[in-house]
Amino acid sequence: MPTRREILNRAFAAAGATLAPRIVPIAPASARRLAPVPGGTFDSGVASGPGFLRRQTLWTRIHGLERDGLVNWELARDPAFAKVVAHGRTTARRAADDTAQVAVERRVIAPGEPHFYRFHTQSANSPVGRFVACRPPDSREPVRIAVWSCQAYEEGFYNAHRGMAAEDVDLVLCLGDYIYERAVKPGVRPDHTGANHDGDVQTLDDYRAKYRLYRADADLQAMHAAHSQLAFWDSHDVEPSPTTGDRDQYGAARRVTHEVRLRNGMQAFLENMPQPAPRTNRDRMYRTVRLGALADLIVTDEQRYHDPYPCSQSIPPSPCEPALDPKRTYLGATQKAWLKRELEHSPARWKLFAGGTMMMSLDLTRGAPFNTGQWDGYVAERRELGEFLLTKRIRDVVRLSGDIHTFFAGQVTTTGRSDGIPALTEFIGGSISSNGIPEGFRDRLGGDPALIAAITEQVKLVNPHIAYTEQRHRGYCIVEARADELIVDFRAPETVLTPGARMVTLQRFRVPRGEPRIELI
Ligand SMILES: [Fe+2]
Repeated sequence: MPTRREILNRAFAAAGATLAPRIVPIAPASARRLAPVPGGTFDSGVASGPGFLRRQTLWTRIHGLERDGLVNWELARDPAFAKVVAHGRTTARRAADDTAQVAVERRVIAPGEPHFYRFHTQSANSPVGRFVACRPPDSREPVRIAVWSCQAYEEGFYNAHRGMAAEDVDLVLCLGDYIYERAVKPGVRPDHTGANHDGDVQTLDDYRAKYRLYRADADLQAMHAAHSQLAFWDSHDVEPSPTTGDRDQYGAARRVTHEVRLRNGMQAFLENMPQPAPRTNRDRMYRTVRLGALADLIVTDEQRYHDPYPCSQSIPPSPCEPALDPKRTYLGATQKAWLKRELEHSPARWKLFAGGTMMMSLDLTRGAPFNTGQWDGYVAERRELGEFLLTKRIRDVVRLSGDIHTFFAGQVTTTGRSDGIPALTEFIGGSISSNGIPEGFRDRLGGDPALIAAITEQVKLVNPHIAYTEQRHRGYCIVEARADELIVDFRAPETVLTPGARMVTLQRFRVPRGEPRIELI
């Protein structure tokens, strides 16, 4: 027996092909001095942000916008818009790269239910978007989220987004690298953005062109149209610590200073992500999203507050002494204190502790971390958090992270390795399209498949705290928080090198309530 939500989802899937929404004429707006937008197109699709706080934010961009103007929006409980529950006008702004956002008040939204929305100019209609409203705080229904990161445009097709669009989830969480500020060559499709037409973006116009390129992708548009999304930035969305000299970390000549580039990246990110920024500190990304009684989503910013990465990465790596310095911080003192409070006082069954980078150790030879630009570079702080959870008896904490473009699942211990005490579990859902660890070795070591296979086996061998790793596929993970267990699926397209690939489930996991332990099922 299909649920009401499933019936609506099917109707939404069919609507894309069959519904021709009527054009709603916009009344003259003399009081606001702005005229209705006469035409334009909706080539970037539509999107919605997470429905926490008191509002649900809807987003679109008017391509061909010549001056600020008004666009109509509608919100309905059905994909045919027979039951419109709210409508109004909002402004498409040239200063915000021709985007229009509207914050719909929650009082017109039914908690936990799907809703549908669309925009109109005087002569054009947007595609129909959908979102599931936040569940009420006392909801004990299982809650499902999709988690993804890393979608280098030129490195693969967005087959995973097409798969995610078809998932039945309450929310999508993006853990960063929504864009890449450079492009690698050769890729499977071209990225000619930036002043030099080589994918290297630095000015605000460059960054805006990058977002327009990514958002033109039909599979990414389908994901945004199907789900609301909460997004966080990582090191490719906003430039990390400044480099010395006049070149960036990829060797590109600087056309603007690091500070200007950082601001440009932030502004373009916020223009394109329909999610409310905090009133007092617009750069603050870390926050908690309550998903009903069973899950709190506690998300940290692991990009902006850390001490410099220790040791340079080399192949083969060697032990990194500076990473052990007890004074080093990854989260920064303020964010760390906030995180501890959130974890200790969360009323939810499952504490989904999400952040940009891998928390478990990842050694290439025993005791020699592969990447000190993640928690392996901040050993004391990882121990502090693990011991905090154990001392306070805070159970059912599940880490969700990304950045490394590879699927991993395992236990985070106080040392990061199997000689520590397990404090929480961790799931890392690959990447949408960005190259993974084997591709990185291929670039550095000349592409010997036997060598790649040997390195993969070595990773498994020297990291026994990692219960599962899959290095060939890209993809995402689906997390379902139930009353007595947490279920995680690693999902992947068969390839990202050609469009339209079939989706497969690589592995399903179960975390029993009360123990930081992973079962492969
Ligand atoms: Fe990435």
